[in-house]
Amino acid sequence: YIDRVKGREVFDSRGNPTVEADVILTDGTLGRAEVPSGASTGENEAIELRDGGKRLMGKGVTKAVAHINNEISTALHGVSPFDQRQVDQIMIELDGTPNKAKLGANAILGVSMATARAAADYFNEPLYRYLGGVDLELPQSFHNVINGGEHADNDIDAQEFMITPLKKTSFRDGINKIADVYHTLKKVLEAEGFETGVGDEGGFAPNMKHTEEAVEALYKAIKQAGYEPGVDIGIAMDFAASAFFDKESGNYNFEGKTYTPAQFIDYVSDLIDKYPAIMSVEDPMDENSWDDFVTATKRLGDKVQIVDDDLIVTNPKFIRKAIKLGAGNTLLIKLNQIGTVSETLEAVRLARKNNFKTMISHRSGETGDTFVADFAVAVNGGELKAGAMARSERVEKYNDILRIEEAMHDLTPVAHYPNDVDLD
Ligand code: PGA
Ligand code: ZN
Repeated sequence: YIDRVKGREVFDSRGNPTVEADVILTDGTLGRAEVPSGASTGENEAIELRDGGKRLMGKGVTKAVAHINNEISTALHGVSPFDQRQVDQIMIELDGTPNKAKLGANAILGVSMATARAAADYFNEPLYRYLGGVDLELPQSFHNVINGGEHADNDIDAQEFMITPLKKTSFRDGINKIADVYHTLKKVLEAEGFETGVGDEGGFAPNMKHTEEAVEALYKAIKQAGYEPGVDIGIAMDFAASAFFDKESGNYNFEGKTYTPAQFIDYVSDLIDKYPAIMSVEDPMDENSWDDFVTATKRLGDKVQIVDDDLIVTNPKFIRKAIKLGAGNTLLIKLNQIGTVSETLEAVRLARKNNFKTMISHRSGETGDTFVADFAVAVNGGELKAGAMARSERVEKYNDILRIEEAMHDLTPVAHYPNDVDLD
């Protein structure tokens, strides 16, 4: 049983305070988890409780930590850690708000994740196996190698340019290819006179002006590394379009031009026709523009996967709406958007039942915790985006899966590695 829960304030990869939670079982088993944090957050995400005031730029989490140490610890005393749903439900009811505003989604998620870890540790099982069992497939990895939008100070308005290994014999083989392209990209950028400092997610943040320049650089790097764009290595983008959507006019102000929603869909359509290696497009429309999302999916959904992030914020309520309307065909899954492990599992289940794919995702503010990598394996997530091959808070997620792959080989001699991203 859970004996007590303890929270503490630690720091994330941007140097901002975040929550760490310990769940301690009656036999002394300790489960620990750290909570990530986004920058381009969706309006409807669960609430991250921050202290405000002057201390630590107002970003302190001592209130959230106090909720863990007091109300949550009391409420969970004597509860079974193996009933994840009950643990989460107790915290949801204790909070009592629709968006976890009272206790803070950061407090609740930390405890939720730490509970799963404690339960796994109790059985001496790795987290991915405790949460997922044995019939597991490793995810297709997506690596953000050029950062724009709110993740970088350059003029590119699209937020993320990712690469993914389409042809691979193993997860390790895929990661090797991505590392090749990442290092080659650095050379390509240097040769063109760009700076090669990295942004929040480990991708480069060159001072480019247009999305096309970034895609061209990726094509060059993929080819120079000895691979064929769209065959060996695919390209994926996250527009995070809410960031350049003008609510007043209803238009998109993108890289120096103004587009109506229909014109912006045309722009994206032309882009993926010109660069067929682009096989995934996230948030091409504003987070409240449901009809435009549907139109974009009808226009582009056969050519690329359309990923819903800010639109659905891992919330079953919005996911049901997206499924009903046909907005997008792939769900981005972020634990801290909804705030508990069991609600995140429900989001993944909803996707499965309705033939939506899932991409499990880190946040731009991360920690050394590799929970999300184990989670992606456990739910047969299909796809995982966890940043570039730089910055340990990113790379450790991939290293975690390399270890899982090794362990799986020991147990299951014939592993199946999909060689395209069409994973159901
Ligand atoms: P965030 O960005 O973690 O800053 O929200 C990630 C994304 O938009 O997918
Ligand atoms: Zn996104």
